[in-house]
Amino acid sequence: MTNKYIYFIANWKMFGDLTTLNSLDKVIKFSKNIKKNKIKLIYCPPSTLISSLSKRLKKTKIEVGAQNCHQSFDNGPYTGQLNSRMLKSVGTKYVIIGHSENRQLGDNDKLINLKIKSAIRAGLKVIFCIGETLKQKKNKKTYKVLADQIRNGLKSINNKSNIIIAYEPVWSIGSGLIPKSDELTKSIAHIKSQLGSKSSKILYGGSVNSNNIDKLKIIAGIDGFLIGGASQNSNKFIDIIKKTIN
Ligand code: PGA
Repeated sequence: MTNKYIYFIANWKMFGDLTTLNSLDKVIKFSKNIKKNKIKLIYCPPSTLISSLSKRLKKTKIEVGAQNCHQSFDNGPYTGQLNSRMLKSVGTKYVIIGHSENRQLGDNDKLINLKIKSAIRAGLKVIFCIGETLKQKKNKKTYKVLADQIRNGLKSINNKSNIIIAYEPVWSIGSGLIPKSDELTKSIAHIKSQLGSKSSKILYGGSVNSNNIDKLKIIAGIDGFLIGGASQNSNKFIDIIKKTIN
């Protein structure tokens, strides 16, 4: 981890309500004592909490992200949807796009590409999730899947400076399993080569916790972590950060 910042992105998924936000006081306090420019701390709560959370984090170094957005830049007749401009207007700085849980619900590469373009146009930074399923891994398709997802998801996007890649093997999410160190090192190198840009940030996500972080933090080319389950508990989240930076 040679880059300036190490990213810790909390993906709360469909968990949390207004009272849950109180648990962040611990993290806010903790973040105040961290050396400037050492880490980037980003919370992606359910959209219902973005506005309250942004207000709460105003005087802190912690930033807010959304977990998804609609592909349309303009407002329109899309019941239940939120576009990136709406999310930005309530304090969102980042948006997760292409998470496997949304790919399962129908987000394909083409739609993901439109969402990324719309989010960038609105001025958001994108956390673009990619990763292979267990079946693809068993069939030795991992590299091809990653290359296809990158090529299609980032089609005709020349400036990738606002895009952070989150490599999340689907079989690792929520399962307690993580890739073998050598496999992960190779996958990260492969992603880097597909991006064609040495400066692109690459995160790892999938069952990150305070027990496996020592193994994960030494993998070459990883700029941080996208953390689901363990990010909902402030003590566990702080523990992961401490173990990474100390
Ligand atoms: P997990 O989720 O840490 O609970 O495996 C990660 C994610 O889905 O982003």
